[in-house]
Amino acid sequence: MYRLAVLLSGRGSNFEAILNAIKNGYIKNGKIVVVISNNKEARGLKVAKDNGLDAIFVDPKGKDRETYDREIVEILKKYDVDYVLLAGYMRILSGYFVNSFKNRILNIHPALLPSFKGLHAQRQAIEKGVRFSGATVHFVTENLDDGPIIVQSVVPVYDSDDEDSLSERILKTEHKIYPLAVKLLTEDRLKINNGRVLVDWDEADDFYVTNPKVGGEDGV
Ligand code: GRF
Repeated sequence: MYRLAVLLSGRGSNFEAILNAIKNGYIKNGKIVVVISNNKEARGLKVAKDNGLDAIFVDPKGKDRETYDREIVEILKKYDVDYVLLAGYMRILSGYFVNSFKNRILNIHPALLPSFKGLHAQRQAIEKGVRFSGATVHFVTENLDDGPIIVQSVVPVYDSDDEDSLSERILKTEHKIYPLAVKLLTEDRLKINNGRVLVDWDEADDFYVTNPKVGGEDGV
């Protein structure tokens, strides 16, 4: 059983999706042992507490990036964490943090990376006029939103969309692909090779956009 930590800063809906996937047995080989936030008021912390999980606020005030991250890493080590899941965690990780959990940190980003990195990815997509956007779960490296890609989902972008409506459409798919990525991770079905992730796909992986086998050779 892999020991998972979730880091979040706000709403925590991706955290909830992963938690539900663990509860209903979709993710069988992992359990969340701690939830950490840089924001005392984060809804996700409350959800964690309500579910009987250890939920810890670490105050960033007056600390530089690395000092803060050393504090977080210490907690993660104390909890003997195997994998760290960033879920709406609004801080850039220091090299110290990334190297302490090399290839063991995941993030979800609301765009088809490598397009639209950084903040307001959905707004960037609308401003650029792309016809499709989506979400990406990837391993975290020292470069922002840049690590090896695990799974992606695709959604259409309509002329009538604004940032909110597109965000809502993308979020629904985030709640499917993050649990899928964690399932693949905890079943040891991901291998990083030259900056790419090779997935040991299973016919049962139910989110067809992410599974080329279901779509057949011509895709979906
Ligand atoms: C999501 O859109 C995620 O892709 C981005 O931040 C948002 C977090 O939402 N990194 P939530 O806190 O999981 O509801």
